[in-house]
Amino acid sequence: MIRVAILGAGIGAEHLAAYRELPDLFSVNQIVDRDLDRVNALPNSADFAHVAEIDVALSDPEIDLIDICLPPHLHVEITLAALRAGKHVVCEKPLATSMADVDLIIHAAADRDVFPVFQYRWGPSFSALQALIDAGLIGKPQVGAVETHWSRGADYYAVPWRGTWSGERGGAILGHAIHNHDLLTHFMGPVAQVSAMAATRVNAIETEDCAAITFVMENGALCTSNVTLGAAFDQTRIRLVFEDLTATSGTAPYAPGLDTWEFTARDPAKQRMVDELLKDVKAEPAGFIGFFKAIADHLAGRPARPVSLDEGAASIALVTAIYYAARTGERVDLPITSEHPLYAGWQP
Ligand SMILES: NC(=O)c1ccc[n+]([C@@H]2O[C@H](COP(=O)([O-])OP(=O)(O)OC[C@H]3O[C@@H](n4cnc5c(N)ncnc54)[C@H](O)[C@@H]3O)[C@@H](O)[C@H]2O)c1
Repeated sequence: MIRVAILGAGIGAEHLAAYRELPDLFSVNQIVDRDLDRVNALPNSADFAHVAEIDVALSDPEIDLIDICLPPHLHVEITLAALRAGKHVVCEKPLATSMADVDLIIHAAADRDVFPVFQYRWGPSFSALQALIDAGLIGKPQVGAVETHWSRGADYYAVPWRGTWSGERGGAILGHAIHNHDLLTHFMGPVAQVSAMAATRVNAIETEDCAAITFVMENGALCTSNVTLGAAFDQTRIRLVFEDLTATSGTAPYAPGLDTWEFTARDPAKQRMVDELLKDVKAEPAGFIGFFKAIADHLAGRPARPVSLDEGAASIALVTAIYYAARTGERVDLPITSEHPLYAGWQP
């Protein structure tokens, strides 16, 4: 049983609900928020300790895993403190807001695990796509296109840390499209080069809310991402074109793997093999439940594909490259090394 303290009762409430679906694997013993009214308002709140101070959770020997659902500017400091206290860490996105901080975390994580949150990876359609990949039915990645077309207005930005460089540390590239960029790289491979344009066109905020990005993957695939927080409604659309198969998402914004996808073989004769294989795919639990189950399996030494610290690091390297490309107009090479001008962070 993994004993958990959740820090932050916003999205932390959804983490709590997911842990509760895995009662043999996790026990949430503490929820920490300096706004105790938020903790008191959580469902069945008698089941866990209500705590206002983060240090109480970090110093408790009865806690194995610190789950950080705090605003982004606290992620690195609290991840490092939790690792020093000997805890495993789950950290909401973004893991960090500079590659220098990512390297500090990698250094500090020597014998503990850090699991960056990318729960979109779990859902029946991604179990299906992974099964097609594992069966060798898709071929090489060719091109991919992702649209993160969501709507955010004044109510969303009423939370003081949002929309600011000091609090949120970035805009739609860092806070919203990061999930879909993780999916793109998860299925199409690591990024070698990025070009990008970014703008603030929707809300009166400091950070960007629109972007158009192109990626060259290490395997040569060419991909694009189009982002706005000014769409009429929230939609995510993803199309991944492989040599032998095209995968087309539905339009569900936040859980693309829960939506119905089309998997179409290029050679109609192969479609039967695809359809046969898809009949037998065992879907993993979706969203946060699948994400946490993979962590429990990994920590218990069972076969699992949790989100790794290296994958979280890659997501921050990609954000760094996108901001640099957007500001300079240059095509940016990855990886981002300590020599890169934005290694210490992209805050203007
Ligand atoms: N994975 C996802 O799909 C997803 C969705 C939403 C938010 N997030 C991420 O989750 C994080 C939190 O976002 P949110 O929307 O829940 O924010 P929020 O502002 O609603 O909640 C954060 C909570 O942290 C508490 N807090 C802040 N500083 C504290 C401190 N020093 N000590 C104790 N408590 C403190 C606040 O009182 C607040 O209740 C962000 O990094 C965000 O990017 C991820």
